[in-house]
Amino acid sequence: MRFTTTAALTAVFGVAVTLAGTHISPAAPKAVKKPAASGAALIAQGKGIAESNGCNSCHSATYAGKKGFSPSIRSTGVTKKYSLAAWERVMNTGVTEDGGHVEKPMPVYHMAAKVSAPLYAFMKSLK
Ligand code: HEC
Repeated sequence: MRFTTTAALTAVFGVAVTLAGTHISPAAPKAVKKPAASGAALIAQGKGIAESNGCNSCHSATYAGKKGFSPSIRSTGVTKKYSLAAWERVMNTGVTEDGGHVEKPMPVYHMAAKVSAPLYAFMKSLK
């Protein structure tokens, strides 16, 4: 009983210290660069990212997919079921929106959110 209480208090204080540390860190918010704010700029940036990462080589030049090989990743394709957060996760870890994993040869890109977010905006712009 006594041990449990001490452990619980330690846990609470541990969390409190961590939160306080995060809160007072002045550098943390500036370390993350936000993607360009404008929709058009974000989409253009995403187009470049898609091309430089070869999404078009497997998902076709129009990103509508290749029959029997890869799905459409346009807004009307698999991207439809992806929220931005789920998209950032699949592009970073390969974990799909339904909790599964991308299958070969779909690469796991380990993309930072600042890279996958413009990519998402571009795919969402393709109706
Ligand atoms: C080497 C070929 C290849 C490349 C390059 C590639 N893909 Fe894929 N991708 C596939 C194949 C094949 C599938 C189907 C298998 C699967 O769903 O995991 C797929 C599936 C997907 C899926 C669906 C995941 C799901 O929910 O099942 C998304 C989203 C996707 N690709 C996005 C991209 C994006 C964005 C890029 C570029 C950054 C890209 N792919 C590059 C071959 C590729």
